[in-house]
Amino acid sequence: MTTLIINIKELLQVENTPKKMVAGKDMKVLPTIKNAFLLINDDCIIDFGQMKDLSEITSDELIDATGKIVLPTWCDSHTHIVYAGNREQEFVDRINGLTYEEIANNGGGILNSAKKLQNTSEEELYKQSAKRVEEVMKLGTGAVEIKSGYGLTKEAELKMLRVIKKLNEVYPITIKATFLGAHALPLEYKNNKVGYLNEVIHEILPIVAQEHLAEFIDIFCETGYFSVEDTEKLLQAAANYGLKPKIHVNQFTAIGGVQAGIKFNALSVDHLEEMRIEDIEALKNSNTMPIALPSCSYFLSIPYTPARKMIDAGLPLALATDYNPGSTPSGNMNFVVSTACIKMKMTPEEAINAATINAAYAMGLEKTHGSICKGKKANFIITKEIPSYYFLPYSFGNNHIEKVYINGKLI
Ligand code: NIG
Ligand code: FE
Repeated sequence: MTTLIINIKELLQVENTPKKMVAGKDMKVLPTIKNAFLLINDDCIIDFGQMKDLSEITSDELIDATGKIVLPTWCDSHTHIVYAGNREQEFVDRINGLTYEEIANNGGGILNSAKKLQNTSEEELYKQSAKRVEEVMKLGTGAVEIKSGYGLTKEAELKMLRVIKKLNEVYPITIKATFLGAHALPLEYKNNKVGYLNEVIHEILPIVAQEHLAEFIDIFCETGYFSVEDTEKLLQAAANYGLKPKIHVNQFTAIGGVQAGIKFNALSVDHLEEMRIEDIEALKNSNTMPIALPSCSYFLSIPYTPARKMIDAGLPLALATDYNPGSTPSGNMNFVVSTACIKMKMTPEEAINAATINAAYAMGLEKTHGSICKGKKANFIITKEIPSYYFLPYSFGNNHIEKVYINGKLI
């Protein structure tokens, strides 16, 4: 089955030779073709170019995209979208003056979600999570990373990971799984962090690896949660099973998590609201992608990742939603791209690069996702009629998407 899209006002993020990622000044460059066509066959992009070079207009399906922009679907490289219930009460508690930290210390926060998830059946958890997957696909996301970490017991962590696996089997969107058993200390281990970490390392991790339930390992490396020492211990154990790190660091405090990630060749270090000069320096000459989560900063009213400082220092940057019930109950990458421009002073080109090609790299998908390139997955967004691609971040909060194709399928 072939689909040909013609008269595209502007085709964004085109590549002849696939790049791994873009960094520093190159992030300001977004390769585009005006008045373009795009040809797909089944789940693959097979051709694209200028309308004047299109030889024949024959295909099973023909779409006229006059006045519309086409771009690759977003890659969301950091989410927690498998969760049970919501935490809207904590949202109201914060409006009334409690802090995120106070709520967590009172048994709310991650432990609140863990209790809910432990009491939810696998079928029900799947149902709730599938709804969110469908929602983000309609918002233009074509690949997503999903973490465990709201289970905090062997049984519940494995339940989460099995749900992630099933979602990947059922939906056309590509899903990558991350094991985040070390997300918080369960109540039973309140005064026994070593005991819980040992449970994660010796009881849960071997099963996760043996059953291929996750490709990546994560830990919340943060004051009051897990230390750099805990992080290194877990990453070492995970490396023995071939799991690559993608870790939560520098959300509230900078304690050396970035360096620990780099030491274990992390694919990404995520959050980075608090960045010291030495953290930026450490990331230079590493293969680790920094990921910013601006909707988390927005929702919690915490600082934004200093994107300007990082990109101006020559670093790459990826953007993700962090979709979760506590700090970011939203999986809208369009909002993330807008917020990155508005609040982090990223240019539209930088933000689009960060949400496509760099985000694909941050989940090990740069060979198949993140750009319009022959041989890559037929994953793309057709916008409504809009004046230019600047309009996407500029006209924030509005829906500019007309159609989404994932793996060649209209969503
Ligand atoms: O990435 N920071 C750690 N974990 C999640 C939020 C956890 C929660 O509040 O449920 C995050 O923001
Ligand atoms: Fe997160």
